[in-house]
Amino acid sequence: MAPQTPDNEWIRQKLDTLTDYADKLYNIHPGATNEIGPWAALKLFHLIVTVDLYTRIIHKTNGIDRKLYFDVLAGSGIVELEDLEVNIYGSPIIAAVFPEYPFDELHFFEGKEERATALSQRLDYIADETPLDIDRDACFVHQGDANQTVPETVEDIIQESGYSGTNQLTFADNERMEISWETMIALSRIWGDYLINFQHKGISRELGYLESGDASEQRIETAHRKLHRFVGGQQYRDCSSVDELRDLYKQQLATIGEEYDKPNNNRPINKQIRVTGAGDRYSYDLIYATRETDSGSPYIQFMDNMRDRIERMSGDNVSDVIDIMQGNATGLDEFIPDASEVKRDEDQSSLGDF
Ligand SMILES: C[S@@+](CC[C@H](N)C(=O)[O-])C[C@H]1O[C@@H](n2cnc3c(N)ncnc32)[C@H](O)[C@@H]1O
Repeated sequence: MAPQTPDNEWIRQKLDTLTDYADKLYNIHPGATNEIGPWAALKLFHLIVTVDLYTRIIHKTNGIDRKLYFDVLAGSGIVELEDLEVNIYGSPIIAAVFPEYPFDELHFFEGKEERATALSQRLDYIADETPLDIDRDACFVHQGDANQTVPETVEDIIQESGYSGTNQLTFADNERMEISWETMIALSRIWGDYLINFQHKGISRELGYLESGDASEQRIETAHRKLHRFVGGQQYRDCSSVDELRDLYKQQLATIGEEYDKPNNNRPINKQIRVTGAGDRYSYDLIYATRETDSGSPYIQFMDNMRDRIERMSGDNVSDVIDIMQGNATGLDEFIPDASEVKRDEDQSSLGDF
């Protein structure tokens, strides 16, 4: 069996079509967008590749009849790239449009009412007015604090379907440390993988308050509370850098939810790709977390390959990626490893023992 790699031609076609409608999607609600630095476009490019690959792998995995996508910090569906006057589509639209074998349900969680409304209207537009074939009835926009609405939604799904036969891919696009550890545990009750944006700036600021000695008592207390809530325990007190906290977060993922409902909801395999913007002004790790299967993880092997490419990138490459996101996709093949570069065993065609 051929190794799993994304289908570049498929991605290219979708990018072309989406780009034709980018302005119309923006104009549906011009005030409701998310603004990001150009380097953040890389996470969205990586998400395109992830959802394409993930859904094709899960499609081949026997016994899964409810395939879910959770976008726990969903935004409005359109992001503006700072300083470039360029709009591209956000993570919810990517997850709805790109999979060749779509998710059965997509759950989008957004706190701001205006953004949630804009996202719903943009999804309506894509379904009704474009040739992009999305199932609007499979898309659910949950407005409210994700740390409340995500655990409630997971509970409802488990009540309806039990534990077997469901699978989820979660994208947690933190800007700081928004998604609490309790919410991550709730998500772990449904077997599947996480893609987590681990942003450095906000975390390093909170660690700084603990180290500096000149922050107010109240601010130090807030920093303790935020870090505790984010990593789910007191162990952050032993961390003095973002890298140490990231390693702790990964250790937590490795044993997540072991005492919660089901014994097997840990994610012992987790890897990260580091994205560093010009002058270190902007940096984040994209952590991918999954569970071991008998034959390894097809996705992780691919991720290793993507990591090498993304971590080598300079500023020029980022503009190439932004061009690709805007439909000028001639460079796509350079960024996505092809089958000959992704080594895997013959029998790694499914997600295995979920
Ligand atoms: C980084 S942006 C998301 C961008 C989005 N993933 C995309 O690619 O277009 C984070 C979003 O999470 C929302 N948010 C922040 N805290 C939240 C919370 N506790 N519950 C729900 N949404 C929240 C913000 O309003 C913002 O729209």
